[in-house]
Amino acid sequence: MRVLVVGSGGREHSLAWALARSSAVEAVVAAPGNVGIGDVAECIPIAEALGDVESFDLVIIGPEQPLVDGLADEIRARGVAVFGPSRAAAHLEGSKAWMKEIAAAAGVPTARFAAFTHTREADAFAFLETLPGLYVVKTDGLAAGKGVIVTESLVEARDAVRSYLSGDSFGAAGRTIVIEEGMRGPELSLLAICDGSLAAVPLPPAQDFKRIGDGDTGPNTGGMGAYSPVPVAGADMVELIMNKIVEPTLAALAQRGIEYRGILYAGLMLTTEGPKLIEYNIRFGDPECQVVLPRLASDLFTHCMEAATGMLSTPVRTIEDSCVGVVLATDGYPGSARTGDVIQGLDATIGRDGVTVFHAGTRREGDDLVTAGGRVLDVVATGSTIAVARARAYAAAACISWPGIQFRGDIAELAGIET
Ligand code: AMP
Ligand code: GLY
Repeated sequence: MRVLVVGSGGREHSLAWALARSSAVEAVVAAPGNVGIGDVAECIPIAEALGDVESFDLVIIGPEQPLVDGLADEIRARGVAVFGPSRAAAHLEGSKAWMKEIAAAAGVPTARFAAFTHTREADAFAFLETLPGLYVVKTDGLAAGKGVIVTESLVEARDAVRSYLSGDSFGAAGRTIVIEEGMRGPELSLLAICDGSLAAVPLPPAQDFKRIGDGDTGPNTGGMGAYSPVPVAGADMVELIMNKIVEPTLAALAQRGIEYRGILYAGLMLTTEGPKLIEYNIRFGDPECQVVLPRLASDLFTHCMEAATGMLSTPVRTIEDSCVGVVLATDGYPGSARTGDVIQGLDATIGRDGVTVFHAGTRREGDDLVTAGGRVLDVVATGSTIAVARARAYAAAACISWPGIQFRGDIAELAGIET
């Protein structure tokens, strides 16, 4: 089988890596891919891949933007199996306001909210006043995980409303906003494989670290690290989330004539009142994918092909080992990130027990590997416990350097102590 992976980040590197290990897969091609993906797959330009898309048996679309733009529909129309939702289903991530409408229709527990367009600043301010104290302001449209402000300060919340609605902060993506009541509790990412029917199969849960700084401080990022399994989310919790959140959502979509094929990623808060939905993403989480796939004992290709063709049947199996991933980012991330710094020490991570390094934002410059994005590398390690995996990941991360490198020191720290 020939598989095409669309995308160029750490998530796509881990997808290509897992697919390359499948006995059913003869060739993995990535478009456009990246330097690291080049070790496990052939990388070609996206236009070339799409021009010849009928030569693939399966296409897996990694990032949200092409899904929101309808790439899955285009490829499906050409008769090729696609793992990734249609444009209509991708609207779940493309518009947070619409996602909230679907959640309400499905009876899914989620934060109280209201949506406002740029002409309704005064109404937005008035709604903020009705919230009990933790304020959340989000862009309606896509903003690479950075368009969310969570604050206890009403002044800061009002400032965010003003700069989002004016278009100053996020352009068109912020000219409509969602304001929400803040929820408290540990977060959980549950990625479910969907095949267009109302049944879905969960992958092992993961926890992501969204803020840039240790102790969950500083601005939101695309994700600074992740681990799996999550001790606070056992099998009962996963079943509850599937029954109360994921399955009712698939049913609400189906009522609107929308079928869902691909990953439905529920971002959840485990509150004292039970799990509540924060948001849906319509693709594998990044960096969650990088810690979930190394734990998969069953075949990723088989799951994706079955889902793409509407015939999920093979059970998801996982290894007992835990997995921890630490994201190494450039100076300035998540603001304007400096790129072009030479990355040192990657060779010293090769051959370390359980360690894999996925490339997120790197490029070759002559003989050098240099930084080419905000998030540069994901250092991932498996181990018999979270603590062991964590120690391995940090020991490998310590080998790598470039000027201004930044990473969190507390990924999976608390979970590691608990296990
Ligand atoms: P989102 O892009 O909607 O996933 O939001 C990004 C991050 O902001 C989430 O992972 C949470 O850490 C935080 N967040 C979003 N909505 C809420 C909420 N209603 N209450 C508390 N934190 C939130
Ligand atoms: N890690 C968060 C995301 O993939 O959106």
